[in-house]
Amino acid sequence: MNCVVNNSDHSKNPPTNQPVVLTSELQKVYRTGFWLNQKIVSLQNCSLQVYAGETFGLLGPNGAGKTTLLKLLLGIIRPTAGRGLLLGKPLGDRSVKQRIGYLPENPYLYEYLTGWEFLEMAAGLFQIPANIQRQRIPQLLELVGLSQTDARKKSMGRYSKGMLQRVGMAQALINNPDLVFLDEPMSGLDPLGRYQMREIILSLKASGKTIFFNSHILSEVEQICDRVAILAKGNLICSGSLDQLLGTETTYHIKGQGGDIEVLKKWINNLQYEPNGSWRGLLQEDYYDFIASLRLMGGKIITMNLSRQSLEEFFIQQIQTQNHPLN
Ligand SMILES: Nc1ncnc2c1ncn2[C@@H]1O[C@H](COP(=O)(O)OP(=O)(O)OP(=O)(O)O)[C@@H](O)[C@H]1O
Ligand SMILES: [Mg+2]
Repeated sequence: MNCVVNNSDHSKNPPTNQPVVLTSELQKVYRTGFWLNQKIVSLQNCSLQVYAGETFGLLGPNGAGKTTLLKLLLGIIRPTAGRGLLLGKPLGDRSVKQRIGYLPENPYLYEYLTGWEFLEMAAGLFQIPANIQRQRIPQLLELVGLSQTDARKKSMGRYSKGMLQRVGMAQALINNPDLVFLDEPMSGLDPLGRYQMREIILSLKASGKTIFFNSHILSEVEQICDRVAILAKGNLICSGSLDQLLGTETTYHIKGQGGDIEVLKKWINNLQYEPNGSWRGLLQEDYYDFIASLRLMGGKIITMNLSRQSLEEFFIQQIQTQNHPLN
């Protein structure tokens, strides 16, 4: 399957509001080595847009350039070429920092501070008044699922990876940002933790925030993102809504029992029978007549699942095509 959009982002029905993240031909080349004479091209010609209120997922294999892009957007590193706007201001503009939250990939959290002290310190950097801090810190701890006892009594050097991720998330939200960047927010979390993180992201979205995140956990991305982009070896190879990338076809894997085989064949491709009398196959889009006929024949549906590719299958296919373009 070909990618819908190649290295630029033309949604079929783009939102009418202005993009809150906009990049144009953004490039980053790192220079390494003693004489800084070795070049590592981490990102090239990256043009994308993210609109207010969207949840945008940036995917890509290890070393694809995801963190590099996030750091460029946040003004932590400077682009080698290209330009971009964040909340309407050029990348690196300090005035937007009040409105932005950031969970780094490997947050360095001071191990001698408790979670509470760390959040107070982060709030202090934003000059949040003490009375608001006293309300907001417990609210955030509840949101991220970290107990007040752990936050107040334990130093972060004694936190588990999941606890650090939670306190990092609370820190990213301390200034009640409009735009939140999350670099691998699910990393180090157990299944319950990942579920909770997904719920947090959805609640942020429901409160109108724009979320831009990197992730390797494609099933989570598929459940929460409005749009995704795939980076590979520094190139943006795809971006679009899930419908654009995965298709809107509505064929179904169906399993059922009973009914007249000759009649069933009219609707179901690859019809196969099983010894217990059930059958399975691929039901075509226009299934209303089929369901009505099956009922008349006394048959029943056991399971029926949309057959479109998962985001994971699509991702693997795209990366393999990049690695072996002639296949
Ligand atoms: N400070 C740096 N100096 C030199 N090269 C760097 C630097 N930071 C990143 N790179 C290189 O840039 C490329 C992209 O790295 P980046 O961290 O952006 O990838 P990523 O997609 O975030 O990977 P991961 O999924 O493993 O987090 C890699 O080849 C990496 O080695
Ligand atoms: Mg990274």
